Amino acid sequence: MSKTTVDAPANIAFIKYWGAKDLDRALPLNTSISMTLESCCTRCTAELLDSGHADEVWISEPDGGFRRPPHEFEDRVRAHLDRMRRWAGRQETFRIATRNSFPSAAGLASSASGFAALTLATAGALGKDDVPTDELARLARESGSGSASRSVLGGFVEWPAIDAERSHGVELAEADHWDLRDVIAVVEIGPKAVSSLEGHRRAHTSPYLPKRLEILPERIDRVRRAIAERDLALLGPAIEEEAVDLHIIAMSSHPPIFYWSPGTVGVLRAVRELRQEGVHAYATIDAGANVHVICEAEAEDDVASRLESLPVVGFVIRDSVGPGPERTSPHLF
Ligand code: DP6
Repeated sequence: MSKTTVDAPANIAFIKYWGAKDLDRALPLNTSISMTLESCCTRCTAELLDSGHADEVWISEPDGGFRRPPHEFEDRVRAHLDRMRRWAGRQETFRIATRNSFPSAAGLASSASGFAALTLATAGALGKDDVPTDELARLARESGSGSASRSVLGGFVEWPAIDAERSHGVELAEADHWDLRDVIAVVEIGPKAVSSLEGHRRAHTSPYLPKRLEILPERIDRVRRAIAERDLALLGPAIEEEAVDLHIIAMSSHPPIFYWSPGTVGVLRAVRELRQEGVHAYATIDAGANVHVICEAEAEDDVASRLESLPVVGFVIRDSVGPGPERTSPHLF
């Protein structure tokens, strides 16, 4: 039966999706902007099965073996398989396997790369090869992991907070527009204590959310302009303000969510010290403790060696802006 394998990258948000108008359909309160990564990605193989089989979902281990995913993740995958079948008007079931290129213990397992890869691999297995990217990005958003919508595209991507039909990732600039690097300081391993889904739900309980939404349009403009002009001195402060704001909302939600660990604060201090020494690097943090340090190519070695020297840092992953998902082989099974 028809089998398709896709590699889809993770992305790092410069302007974060945090809070939804309609969480079931992942319709965001605010526009977000991200950079698609190159090396941190999920490979997904989707195979169509004869009707009569149930859907099968597997996680592939580095040694080539397979295991069943955690329940919550498996339920979300199954719901997305139903969505893809409804969209295609088809009945067949799927055998799915996924594998992350980055260490799964790194706590970076954002579902963005996973659900982008799942959307594209299942669309391919269904023979939907000529579907416009906009439609695939919308389907990826509907998986519930909204940021997956941005991972369907490469380079620099905006996901506008507009009507359901047009609210999906769109390209702002291609990967070769600006060779940015993301040096990731892993300070905590294991999954985060509170999911992004729960974070979106609680965002509405923060008294600071209206203020965030009020100041975001100006910051979004700055980030757009910084990308267009390849201006790191403009981008950097905007992404640091944004990362702190997301965590202010999380920490002031009811009940509060504290994603930072002592290591997070240690890395933020090291990034400020690097800047005082003339190294242009800026930090951003998603819903977790690990810190993404954004810089240009000439600063990458200095940033990586400083972060590696910090006792609070377990290990460092070096990544860069990438061109987006691609069909690939070999299949995972
Ligand atoms: C903090 O609902 O897309 O990463 O399921 O973790 O992929 P995942 O989350 P999703 O929310 C993303 C939250 C964020 C910010 C962002 O990527 O925009």
